[in-house]
Amino acid sequence: MTRTVDWLHDAVELIDQTRLPQDEVVLRIDDVPTLVDAIQRLAVRGAPALGVTGGYGVVLAADAHDPVDDPERFQALVRTIREARPTAVNLGRGVDLALAAATSGRDAILAAAHALRDDEVEASWSMGILGADLVTDLVGRPATAMTICNTGGLACVERGTALAVIQELHERDQLIEALPLETRPLLQGGRLTTWELARMGAPHRLLVDAAAASVLARGLADVVLVGADRIARDGCTANKIGTLALALAAQYAGIPFVVVAPESTVDPDTATGAAIAIEDRAGDEVTAVRGIQIADPATRVLNPAFDVTPPELITAIVTDRRVVRIGRGDRLDTVAVGDRRAPAAPSRTVAN
Ligand code: MRU
Repeated sequence: MTRTVDWLHDAVELIDQTRLPQDEVVLRIDDVPTLVDAIQRLAVRGAPALGVTGGYGVVLAADAHDPVDDPERFQALVRTIREARPTAVNLGRGVDLALAAATSGRDAILAAAHALRDDEVEASWSMGILGADLVTDLVGRPATAMTICNTGGLACVERGTALAVIQELHERDQLIEALPLETRPLLQGGRLTTWELARMGAPHRLLVDAAAASVLARGLADVVLVGADRIARDGCTANKIGTLALALAAQYAGIPFVVVAPESTVDPDTATGAAIAIEDRAGDEVTAVRGIQIADPATRVLNPAFDVTPPELITAIVTDRRVVRIGRGDRLDTVAVGDRRAPAAPSRTVAN
């Protein structure tokens, strides 16, 4: 299996991201409650991957309750998928895209989910190309790129968002090194991004989150590249907790801060950053690390999983169809959504 999430032999197949980097385990899921549990415990995670998983989840819901004969139970099951996590707009969007096909039957839902999967793969390639072009323009020489969380193929089916840009830079010999942050508390950067960077053969050094500001202030990185889970109409972008701190530090250091996310993450229904729902997660994610207690078990915890970065701190937003140079006065509503960029020599095939 090369895709993070796929549909094979009447079930969803996912790489279990909670088991990486130690074990490469593929989960085969053929019922909605198990899928919802996989989403909530981050066995599958990252905005575009959540969207595709949501689409396939609607197929599982239709297999459990016929959308035409038993619409109430079908819709109730679909709601549990939609509400599994609140921040990434892609989850609800993926569910809605698949749901729109429900009156045409289960195979139409599956076709819609496949189309979304293929669309996200194409989007990742385009973001990598547009983002690498931008970094080359901003930096003017090979770059050291800092990043947070995991934004690679694991978060997106294939290739990724911010990490797709890093991969493209590496493939163009324009990457000096990547500096991924560990990303407490669940260590997506430490566990998943290092695994992906190692597999692509890209030079990298892992940083603890608290080192980011100092490393930027010392001029040891040329650009910060991050993903997004939802982009509001006002240009605010939600991403993994710690991203706002990184943006503030990048601005202080005078280093470009670039958000990379597909158009599927731009949410026309969310007017402002303040309206983005921020997921609060369980306290034991903070008080224990991989099962080992590191704080008094009775410690009360505040564990927001995401934060919101305002456009004033963002140099540019790169999607699969446009580059919005906020630092030059562009806004989301002043830059038209154009065509995707494709790799010069396509090196992959997408088969159902
Ligand atoms: O809680 P997670 O691991 O799902 O958070 C993911 C992120 O914050 C990513 O940066 C985001 O989804 C954008 S990249 C695909």
